[in-house]
Amino acid sequence: MSCSALRRLTTTTRSAIRVRNRPSVRGFSTTPPPSPKSSKTGLYAGLGAAALGGAAYAYYVYASQSDHAREAGSAVRGAAQAAKAAVNYTPTKADYQKVYNRIAEIMDDAGEYDDGSYGPVLLRLAWHASGTYDKATNTGGSNYATMRFDPEALHAANAGLAVARGLMDQVKREFPWISYGDLWTLGGVAAVQEMGGPKIPWRPGRIDGYARDATPDGRLPDAAQGAGHVKEIFARMGFTDQEAVALCGAHALGRCHRDRSGYDGPWTFSPTTFTNDYYTLLFDESWVWKKWGGPKQLEDKKTRSLMMLPTDYVLTQDTHFKKHAKAYAADSALFFRDFSAAFARLLELGVPFAAAEPWEMRSLDEQK
Ligand code: HEM
Repeated sequence: MSCSALRRLTTTTRSAIRVRNRPSVRGFSTTPPPSPKSSKTGLYAGLGAAALGGAAYAYYVYASQSDHAREAGSAVRGAAQAAKAAVNYTPTKADYQKVYNRIAEIMDDAGEYDDGSYGPVLLRLAWHASGTYDKATNTGGSNYATMRFDPEALHAANAGLAVARGLMDQVKREFPWISYGDLWTLGGVAAVQEMGGPKIPWRPGRIDGYARDATPDGRLPDAAQGAGHVKEIFARMGFTDQEAVALCGAHALGRCHRDRSGYDGPWTFSPTTFTNDYYTLLFDESWVWKKWGGPKQLEDKKTRSLMMLPTDYVLTQDTHFKKHAKAYAADSALFFRDFSAAFARLLELGVPFAAAEPWEMRSLDEQK
């Protein structure tokens, strides 16, 4: 599907907010994560991860009966060899960098769509693909990419993500060897990094599953709920309160759409630039309940152009959440560091990686 066709798919209007399409400042206040080791261990680990990428394709042939990530662990290790035989192609880090670059280009080629970038919706796809993880049963997560199938694609929480999946399908046609889970999570990495956020360590190894692997409805957070719900949902994935607060900072990016979630508007004045503005605005502005026919949401008293969901506002109300949200409002570098760690972990929940270390993908600017 072409970008222009995708644009026609959405009825959202461009906001009056000033668009910063490609931020000129990249990596602002970033504390970079440790770079991949150059030791032999690192080399072998990298090769292992590359083999896993190829294994994703072979998994279809090799382990079609497997329902659970646990089983997939051993299947993938065997499939690393089967991949070479089946497709005679083992992708390298350079191949994944090419995929990253293609995603980054598509992201910016958004024309009149929203605020001029597909970055936020691609980030939301990566999050919703990963945030279904249930620690207790080791099910869900980005492995298997089950949002490709109904009914998971039709879960209310996933409304609007067909736009992002359509964009990713374009990339998949160009790089058919990559698994959907690897592609979608790499999309999240590209979105954060290209919009000026921190480096997100990432590695391949996810495999494509089947409709029967799809997760039940209700695993993603409900924006109308309170602090207890937010804690419960993130704890189910294995996250602490601090990590939950750091992850919610992604709402510096993008906006709510009437025809998707029912909510309306952006959280910040720069919805295509990764900043800690979400937290500063939460504390610096006065938030009042919006009087309208839509679902309960807050608006800033001053401009009435920004919004907060009930679940965003609880970060200022719950004592534990508030402590971390205040810290991120005061220290952008701290937020960048903690977001990077929590988001990298989110993308790997339930993924049966063999021994391999994550990579740091280079931004388009770094490759100039
Ligand atoms: C309590 C937790 C959360 C709730 C209740 C929540 C809810 C929502 C809702 C209702 C929307 C609007 C969707 C639309 O109408 O298009 C949205 C958008 C978004 N969410 Fe969240 N979210 C949560 C956490 C997160 C996390 C952890 C991330 C990423 C790490 C994230 C990333 C995004 C992004 C980037 C958008 C904008 C999408 C766009 O512009 O198309 N959210 N979220």
